[in-house]
Amino acid sequence: YAADILKSGQHLLSLINDILDMAKIEAGKMTLHCEPVSLREVCEDAVRLMRGKVQEAGLKIAVEAGDLPDIQADHRGVKQVMLNLISNAVKFTPEGGSIVVSLKPFVGPAGEDRIRVSCADTGIGIAPQDLERLARPFEQVEGQHSKTTQGTGLGLALTKSLIEMHGGQLSMESQPGVGTVVSFDLPVKRPDQTVQPIRAAFAA
Ligand SMILES: Nc1ncnc2c1ncn2[C@@H]1O[C@H](COP(=O)(O)OP(=O)(O)OP(=O)(O)O)[C@@H](O)[C@H]1O
Ligand SMILES: [Mg+2]
Repeated sequence: YAADILKSGQHLLSLINDILDMAKIEAGKMTLHCEPVSLREVCEDAVRLMRGKVQEAGLKIAVEAGDLPDIQADHRGVKQVMLNLISNAVKFTPEGGSIVVSLKPFVGPAGEDRIRVSCADTGIGIAPQDLERLARPFEQVEGQHSKTTQGTGLGLALTKSLIEMHGGQLSMESQPGVGTVVSFDLPVKRPDQTVQPIRAAFAA
């Protein structure tokens, strides 16, 4: 019983936090606290936190990453993004499936360094007509939620907002019955980071 109470308490708390974060974003009051972040470590931490759920669901999960530079980002924000994506992959992938989180550096259109993160699952997938609306608050695919998969439909909306605030972009590809890939890219340096060296010079 104590475990059940703990679990439902944690679930309520995360629900309240999602609603508060969404309200904050919509009010334009969400601010990022950027610092050097190892995206690879964030992904590995998120995978570690989700390991119990992954095993319970009978799934496999792996992180694939080479050598990557740290990025300027809000640590809590990117961690939340990864937890949201992995939790979706776990929720919507039947037993025996697998999840792969991969990270790759690339050069953006303006010659800037960026990192692309993808979370790929072998789950139930999303029909093409549903793909676009799911990143909006409270949007879910009807009839897909079994008794065990609960949710509010805020995860992806929060994820999209957090990524766009970082100067990144969220994209989703899916094939019903085959799986889903949710990807995003983030700039290694924030576009407005040119002011930083000046501040550092003052501090010195
Ligand atoms: N990896 C995925 N595979 C299949 N469907 C997905 C996947 N990720 C998201 N979806 C669909 O998109 C919907 C919205 O996702 P979102 O994360 O915003 O909400 P949720 O997971 O239902 O609830 P919450 O994240 O607030 O707990 C989901 O309900 C599901 O229908
Ligand atoms: Mg979710």
